[in-house]
Amino acid sequence: MASHTVKDMLLDPVAKPDPTSGNKITVVGVGQVGMACAFSILTQHIATEIALVDVVADKLKGELMDLQHGSTFLRNAKITASTDYAVTAHSKICVVTAGARQKEGESRLDLVQRNTDIFKGIIPQLISYSPDCILLIVSNPVDILTYVAWKLSGLPKNRVIGSGTNLDSSRFRFLMSQRLNVAPTSCHGWIIGEHGDSSVPVWSGVNIAGVGLRELNPDIGTDKDKESWGELHKQVVHSAYEVIKLKGYTSWAIGLSVATLVQGILSNAGVIHAVSTLVKGQHGIEDEVFLSLPCVLGTNGVSHIVKQLLTDGERSMLHRSAKVMQEVQSQLKM
Ligand SMILES: NC(=O)c1ccc[n+]([C@@H]2O[C@H](COP(=O)([O-])OP(=O)(O)OC[C@H]3O[C@@H](n4cnc5c(N)ncnc54)[C@H](O)[C@@H]3O)[C@@H](O)[C@H]2O)c1
Repeated sequence: MASHTVKDMLLDPVAKPDPTSGNKITVVGVGQVGMACAFSILTQHIATEIALVDVVADKLKGELMDLQHGSTFLRNAKITASTDYAVTAHSKICVVTAGARQKEGESRLDLVQRNTDIFKGIIPQLISYSPDCILLIVSNPVDILTYVAWKLSGLPKNRVIGSGTNLDSSRFRFLMSQRLNVAPTSCHGWIIGEHGDSSVPVWSGVNIAGVGLRELNPDIGTDKDKESWGELHKQVVHSAYEVIKLKGYTSWAIGLSVATLVQGILSNAGVIHAVSTLVKGQHGIEDEVFLSLPCVLGTNGVSHIVKQLLTDGERSMLHRSAKVMQEVQSQLKM
């Protein structure tokens, strides 16, 4: 017998919708960071669908409902959530923010084994439902967990990316902007290496409108510098600890950073960001480790790594970061 629901009377089926089309993004972990990522992606209209996954079903449902209730203020992105990874099927990018976060005074590296064990339950599931996705890892320590995700996923290196020092570079550019009273987007500087305590400020490239600050002040970034510009990098390294001490976690800046990376990947326009990538073979690094370097991003993930002209000092700092990563990785139970 013919059905007479309003839906059936109103809509005449012609063809099934294609579940693989559009820009579907998964966010795993709906904590402070995951929700800031989801919110930034939604409000910037970057995704056609966003799927949320967490192990805490009630929180997940609450966050889902809260976002869905704002749907009419967005641009019709579909919002779904489940503890079952089937909800993530056909994602273009899977953002992983799940895991324990740093406690006050705890370093990112202290978190490593706890979050590696969590990843064993997450990464294979994501790949089984979205075998061609790009993994964008955010959980800390992000460089080591990006390596862990690469190993667990079996994906090619270009498709496994860590949010890395895109955030540190933004913090640096903001601090520069405060000193110079110039917009952060007009302040150019790159922090590379580890997202964390051993990150490397590339002072040799810091510039405003192409004017290298090192040309104006050859001592910039060194202990000899009378203006103590090196303090900016110290503040970058310290800033996560400071924000965590003040508000308990960091969220908005990393959410915006991730949304920018997702947008950059999907647009396929060749934008360059400092993200964590496999750096073996770069700047003479021999270890199989992930660290941030400026990368050209697109729908295939990392298409190129920019060969920055580093000074000997910058290169040796990068090597030191690589050794720290390698040492931690060698102790991991995978
Ligand atoms: N890369 C960066 O720049 C950056 C910046 C800030 C925070 N982080 C990191 O992001 C991570 C999340 O931070 P947060 O403040 O959102 O923490 P949070 O405690 O608020 O949220 C973590 C979420 O992960 C979920 N989770 C735990 N195990 C899970 C599993 N097996 N599967 C699915 N979900 C699971 C929890 O239920 C929780 O909702 C931390 O590792 C933190 O250090 C990274």
